[in-house]
Amino acid sequence: MKLANSPLSRILWSVSVLPIILCNAQPPVINPGILTQSKSIGDCQACRIFVESFKKGLERTARGKFEGGDTAWEEEKLKKTYKRSEVRLIDIQEGICRAEKYSVKCHHMAEKAEEFIEEWWAQDPDESADLYTYICIDKMQVCCPKLHYGKDCKPCIGDHENLCNGHGKCRGDGTRKGNGTCSCDAAYDGENCDKCASGYYVSSGAGKDLVCSPCHPSCLECRLGSQKDCVTCKPGYTFDSDEGCLDVNECDDVNRCTKNQFCLNSIGSYMCAPCDKSCDGCHGDGPDMCRRCAKGYSKKGEFCAPDRGEEDREDYLTTTRYMTYVGLLVATGILLPKSTTLGSIVGMMVLSYIVGAEYYCMINGHTGLLDLKDFDLSQMFKT
Ligand SMILES: *[C@@H]1O[C@H](CO)[C@@H](O)[C@H](O)[C@H]1NC(C)=O
Repeated sequence: MKLANSPLSRILWSVSVLPIILCNAQPPVINPGILTQSKSIGDCQACRIFVESFKKGLERTARGKFEGGDTAWEEEKLKKTYKRSEVRLIDIQEGICRAEKYSVKCHHMAEKAEEFIEEWWAQDPDESADLYTYICIDKMQVCCPKLHYGKDCKPCIGDHENLCNGHGKCRGDGTRKGNGTCSCDAAYDGENCDKCASGYYVSSGAGKDLVCSPCHPSCLECRLGSQKDCVTCKPGYTFDSDEGCLDVNECDDVNRCTKNQFCLNSIGSYMCAPCDKSCDGCHGDGPDMCRRCAKGYSKKGEFCAPDRGEEDREDYLTTTRYMTYVGLLVATGILLPKSTTLGSIVGMMVLSYIVGAEYYCMINGHTGLLDLKDFDLSQMFKT
């Protein structure tokens, strides 16, 4: 019997691996598609999607339904009747919006547009005609022509050849919404997006050639891109006439965190983290950073270690637990050659017991087979 495939080795393997699997219970991953779907879109965009879907339907049914008539002449005749028939319109509308993103909004728009579509269909339309203009702009009145905005489709404010200096777009462009003013890209600001936004500086040009670049992360406003070029500092930084904006070490203030926490400075900020459980006050992480030892712990060299009695008891319990496991596994080992079925069942039960017991120990902070209580699990399973 090869050891690698023996049931016992399989059990041992499971014992060592299962707790890891058990602790790897991550929250269900949310499909990002669902989030995009729930994000609302405007009526104009919904109408555009609907029209696109309708056009796909026209293409899909363009070749007719009655292919393979008895003669070429008959086929041609049937095609002609189908082309403008109520049947074809129904065929198109059956598949409408199905394959689209935002299918719910699209369907909603399809319902509202139904009478206009029927009207259009009855006019024996030229299929290449601009259905978008007809439905979304003229009939539904949810969109406007390009570079027009608002209820009455007024032209966007400013020079249409050079709208917002190329650094933004007209608010409500092509829809019945907005007020026609410029909505500038992140780095730009001003009525015509001809200035740099706060946190950016002019790195070259002006007007439509203006290039704005981000300030150093320590600056709120700046003249140029380095730390020394700050004009004002972000919160968490202090101004130094030689060096510019420097990080404030919030941890210099001894009262920054509460009694059983220690302070960690970071660039632009700080955080308070809890002391080790063996400490009563500390100046860092771990049992070697205590100011004083917590109750039930006493100083052993650098460390605060659990008091003797406590430690003995814990050791004793741990040993007993391991001996129980060994006993159970040996019993399974004896049973297995006699009856594989019974042995496997008992094996599974033993396994569940061990995993359960170790998991219980782990979450209650006792020493376990895998000492994971001080382990940052999320770190471990991050890829
Ligand atoms: C246009 O709309 C934007 C955003 O909704 C608003 O900030 C701005 O003040 C408005 N401008 C005018 C002139 O009404």
